[in-house]
Amino acid sequence: MVKKDFYWGASTSAFQVEGGFGEGGKGIATTDVRHVPEGIADSKIASDHYHHLSEDIELMADLGIDLYRFSFNWTRVMGEGDQPNQEGIDFYNRLIDGCLEKGITPFPTLYHFEMPQALVTKFDGWKSRKCIDYFVDYAKVCFQHFGDRVKLWGTINEQLIVTAASDLNGNHETDADEKMKQMYQMSYNMSLAEKKTIQVFRKIVRDGQIGPVCSMQVVYPETPSPRNILAAKNAEDFLQNCFLDMSVFGEYPKSYCNYLNEKGWYPETEPADREILKKNKPDLIGINYYCSTCIRAVEPGEDTSKLPPFYRNERFTLGNNPYLTKTKWMEFGIDPEGLYIGMRSIYEKYHLPMMVTENGLAYSDSIEDGQIHDVYRIDYLEQHIKQCERFMEEGYPLLGYSPWSLLDLVSSHQGFKKRYGLIFVDRTDEDPKECRRIPKDSYYWYQNKIKNTKKG
Ligand code: BG6
Repeated sequence: MVKKDFYWGASTSAFQVEGGFGEGGKGIATTDVRHVPEGIADSKIASDHYHHLSEDIELMADLGIDLYRFSFNWTRVMGEGDQPNQEGIDFYNRLIDGCLEKGITPFPTLYHFEMPQALVTKFDGWKSRKCIDYFVDYAKVCFQHFGDRVKLWGTINEQLIVTAASDLNGNHETDADEKMKQMYQMSYNMSLAEKKTIQVFRKIVRDGQIGPVCSMQVVYPETPSPRNILAAKNAEDFLQNCFLDMSVFGEYPKSYCNYLNEKGWYPETEPADREILKKNKPDLIGINYYCSTCIRAVEPGEDTSKLPPFYRNERFTLGNNPYLTKTKWMEFGIDPEGLYIGMRSIYEKYHLPMMVTENGLAYSDSIEDGQIHDVYRIDYLEQHIKQCERFMEEGYPLLGYSPWSLLDLVSSHQGFKKRYGLIFVDRTDEDPKECRRIPKDSYYWYQNKIKNTKKG
């Protein structure tokens, strides 16, 4: 039975949906200048949410959601990073007030992948502790301007990804060893920034709740061999525990520290950090989940250099799960039960309420007679929601479910061919057209699901 105060939501992020490049005093973000391969849309127009704001809020209201999970664009709020930008603040005031008028709770994330390019140019972004102060100042501006009406907040979206993806964070170091070292330093600085942000939040938004948004890792060993089981444990420490242990307990897992020390990659810290890290606990954890991960041990001499940085580790590598159905865009396989398994582990470890902040199916949808019959997405959402219901029936605390994404948007690096939306945005990678909105069959399915649950 879904509780009456359960949030049914839908999610987006600023750089993937807004567009409005160079408008309203927005500064230049890392995502505005990154290299985008030919034939793939960039984020300059994206879904043109910046110019379709009222229409999008109407669509949210018709959908019946009671929560909108979005992100503030750091460069819309702070221009080049050092001064508040009133026009940007006004834009988010319109968004927040528009949602509240329709009974939709705004749930912004402060940092969802983009950041001011100026901070990277000036002092190498997160590699420097200076970035911590800039981030805390930005967060403070957000709390001061929006905290009277916004009570649910996310800090950092998927620290795992944002520390590893050079085009998002500007870590273009060419020496592979040095690059890894810097990645871990950036991650430490981000964790410290998160904690300092929570400290400020407690003073300004006294009745609010805040927490990290993690890229939930449901790690299965490829076989029951002890080597693979240990590899899976190591992967959990490096892909998830190092972030959440830091957010909740203010310390890293032992095996993570040992490995970083062995490699000479342990970040530089200052004695006063410890207290800040230990205090300032979050209130909730945002869960982004698309699929589980199968892990195995690295074979002697095996080349892992082609893996993304977060998998490039001597203690584990990617395996294959033959039990899951894979699709073109969901290459790890579809695993609804993984959502339940992962949330259960997170709850047993951290004892905090959770909110599903992202969950969705990527597909290259197309229009047929003016409609989008995305039965595959309905099936995916239905199966994952069932696992949330199961989780709640067993007494675990889940605050809400907010699928990715409200509308089609630029994928983090694969443009508009890879779509997740409940609402189709009529554009292609090459041609933005008018970005006309067309609700998909999944939109109507979700609308019914929300209506029926509320009735029951
Ligand atoms: C999450 C991000 O990693 O996954 C989103 O928070 C992203 O920003 C989503 O869009 C899906 O990933 P992708 O790469 O398919 O866009």
